Amino acid sequence: MRIILPVLLILSLSACDRKSPPTVTVPTAKSHNTLLNEQAAAARLDAPIAPLTPLAQLGKKIFFDETLSGSGHMSCASCHNPQNAYAPLNNLAAQLGGTDLARQGGRAVPSLTYHERTPTFKVMPDTQLDIDDGATLKAPRLAQKTLSDAEISKAISEGHANTVNVVHADTVVPLGGFDLDGRAVSLADQASGPLFDAREMANSNIRSLQKKLAAAPYAREMVAVFGKNALGLPEQAVRNATKALEQFQLEDHSFHSYNSKFDYVLAGRAQFNDQETRGWTLFDDPKKGNCAACHLDKPTKNRMAPAFTDYQYEALAAPRNSDLRANQNPDFFDTGLCGPNRNDLAGQSGFCGMFKTPSLRNVATRRVFFHNGVFHSLEDVVRFYVERDTRPEKWYPKRADGSVEMFNDLPVAYRANVDVGDAPFNRHQGEQPALSNQEIDDLVAFLKTLTDGYK
Ligand code: HEC
Ligand code: HEC
Repeated sequence: MRIILPVLLILSLSACDRKSPPTVTVPTAKSHNTLLNEQAAAARLDAPIAPLTPLAQLGKKIFFDETLSGSGHMSCASCHNPQNAYAPLNNLAAQLGGTDLARQGGRAVPSLTYHERTPTFKVMPDTQLDIDDGATLKAPRLAQKTLSDAEISKAISEGHANTVNVVHADTVVPLGGFDLDGRAVSLADQASGPLFDAREMANSNIRSLQKKLAAAPYAREMVAVFGKNALGLPEQAVRNATKALEQFQLEDHSFHSYNSKFDYVLAGRAQFNDQETRGWTLFDDPKKGNCAACHLDKPTKNRMAPAFTDYQYEALAAPRNSDLRANQNPDFFDTGLCGPNRNDLAGQSGFCGMFKTPSLRNVATRRVFFHNGVFHSLEDVVRFYVERDTRPEKWYPKRADGSVEMFNDLPVAYRANVDVGDAPFNRHQGEQPALSNQEIDDLVAFLKTLTDGYK
């Protein structure tokens, strides 16, 4: 319904004959805005696909090259399959890699679509945030962390003062960065992670990767792009390869095609059915799904497409997943921003348990959900959102005394970081969930409109 208004407006404007009296209603600010958003969405759909630059073409070859691994059988595409929005086709909580292709990774593999606008990681005051060309981000919300003086001096004494923008900020939020804990500062920086991770592509060192690159069929192209010293030094060779991987992800249309049904609706070229429309309303309603509070679904001020993330971090307390081998150790916890994969924020106990809010674009193509891959269907995810606090006994294990151990994938000390203030989490055991079964189905129907390649 939101989109129909301006369409009618165009029709009535173009039907307006000079001689007839000026009966056309003056467009309101909102409908004018909607019209411009519609034009921007249409322009995205109609934009010709530019050919890849030589650097991005090189990145594409590297992305699919299995020889660049310790096993000789694993490329980026082994985990990030282009057939599935650059996520795996199987439904394993985490993938197997390493030199013997038998070591399990620590986290669910994210889609590689829609990371091109990710801001660099920072911890900043949660006032009117101005990322993404001035995205219409709401003012303070959710997960606000007030740093005590003690915490600030601790961060400074431990040398984190640069990472943590502690300059007497009262309320700060972490934002941006790559990987689920934001530890990589760019896509190029990120790529060096999997190339050397012993559970992933498992190259033993930069020299061995340099050798593989020098022997690759595209070695000559590397020289053409980067000059004759392209592969001469190990650091240089690896830096060039990761730069090319970054460029491939930034340029190739398949990583950010903005052509889902949602985008067609935004462009006024398709309509949601009744169920999808109801789902979208629930997605936005602050008292119902409230999903849009974090998964932003409105075009930015500069009319860029909604990214379905605010690039911020939250602790949602997905149940512990026993399919992850690391979890066999009861003392092991993946606390996201606090480690184990980054340690510069370990002193910021208020951030422990937080993971990056993922884009929901292409979310219906995912086989496992949340950082630990504990859920296997969108229905389960949405049901968890609305039942986590109303029916915790369904989601978390019972202790010996019969009580429910809520938030069991976090150390007890960090359970207070879990978001319990915002709908749909702001309920208590035994209360009605924020969404009925029908409404859960409606919401899921809406999420399915976010898959690329509608036409
Ligand atoms: C063995 C499976 C595997 C392989 C191979 C792999 N990745 Fe990943 N990738 C992952 C996992 C798991 C994560 C999440 C890591 C985390 O949060 O700690 C990830 C995260 C990412 C991200 C960050 C996404 C985000 O949400 O911020 C990018 C980008 C990425 N990978 C690119 C690559 C590239 C490029 C390659 C090849 C050099 C590659 N990956 C190889 C499993 C893999
Ligand atoms: C308070 C912010 C916030 C709100 C509100 C919120 N989400 Fe999320 N969402 C997140 C974060 C953070 C994650 C990642 C959590 C993790 O990996 O542990 C996430 C993950 C997800 C995932 C899993 C995606 C994947 O690739 O694994 C889905 C699906 C999802 N959210 C849908 C929704 C829906 C539907 C709603 C509304 C009912 C909603 N979210 C409300 C922050 C939020």
